[in-house]
Amino acid sequence: MATNRTFTMIKPDAVAEGHSGAILKIIEEAGFRIVALKMVKLSKERAGQFYEVHKERPFYGSLCDYMSSGHIIAAILEKENAVTDFRKLIGATNPEEAAEGTIRKLYAKSVESNAVHGSDSDENAEIEGNFYFSNIEKF
Ligand code: RTP
Ligand code: MG
Repeated sequence: MATNRTFTMIKPDAVAEGHSGAILKIIEEAGFRIVALKMVKLSKERAGQFYEVHKERPFYGSLCDYMSSGHIIAAILEKENAVTDFRKLIGATNPEEAAEGTIRKLYAKSVESNAVHGSDSDENAEIEGNFYFSNIEKF
């Protein structure tokens, strides 16, 4: 199967609590290659743009506050079946439903403060990667 890419963010709570290194280690040990990486702090407006797809959802305002509350780490990851395999590695959105050993089971605190983001399709992985990195095809 073709190698492909996904996009992730380590969310503000996980960065602030010092779990970035542990989370990146899990990601690399699962066979993902980090092809782009940076730490940034989003404004509330910029967080709102990233999560525009959720703007009608009741949790949108709170999500934008949370995602702009501290620094995040954004990364593009490469592996065969990257999108599907990464969603498995992070686990369910709600940590109470996340499988043992998943990143969210280990580090998420709630359905909102859930430690990591993972793209849900190849198309969104490309859109989301482009949100943070320019000329991503060069990586
Ligand atoms: P993500 O996009 O961050 O990888 O998470 P996901 O696909 O598992 O979940 P999604 O439905 O796309 O929701 C995006 C993020 O919004 C927050 N959320 N809060 N309070 C709530 O009920 C609620 N539901 C979702 C989470 O931070 C979730 O990851
Ligand atoms: Mg999602």
